[in-house]
Amino acid sequence: MSDSAAPPGFEEAFHQAAERHERVWVFIAIVLLSLLMAGTLFFVVLDYGVVVQTDGYRADPASVATTPPFADAALVRTGPNAYAVHMLAHLWTWTPSPLHVPQGAAITFYVTSSDVLHGFEVQGTTINVTAVPGIVGSVTYTFAHPGTYYIICNEFCGIEHQAMIGRIIVDPARPA
Ligand code: CUA
Repeated sequence: MSDSAAPPGFEEAFHQAAERHERVWVFIAIVLLSLLMAGTLFFVVLDYGVVVQTDGYRADPASVATTPPFADAALVRTGPNAYAVHMLAHLWTWTPSPLHVPQGAAITFYVTSSDVLHGFEVQGTTINVTAVPGIVGSVTYTFAHPGTYYIICNEFCGIEHQAMIGRIIVDPARPA
């Protein structure tokens, strides 16, 4: 069928219909892109928001490993049933590790890195703080059950990233 055989107005109607379809699909593409961007933004904020929400303070990455409180850090008692520890991340270990903590006490972890970005995630808990060089983040957690908990680095930090595992040993509470 040649153009001349088309009924009058057919071409016009065809183009209008085609443009309508085009607008619909452009709209769908914009909606999908917007959802993707919003989703990405949401997870970036969610992830790095963990650091923003902690009461962070500055620590010089160049000297943090050799200066207190991160040098030779140990668990210190800060209250009747509260303890604190300064946890240093570096390529590719956690210090101190293994760390013994008592069951049922509030443990505050101060976390930083002396080199690159690491992730301080403790398996089986809600602890998840990004170890940022230059910034000390903190999180407080109470281990309800004794046992061994593994610190997993959840930020890719180089060749030994997958082996950057620390240990927290929760000792059973002594009967009073
Ligand atoms: Cu440290 Cu990955």
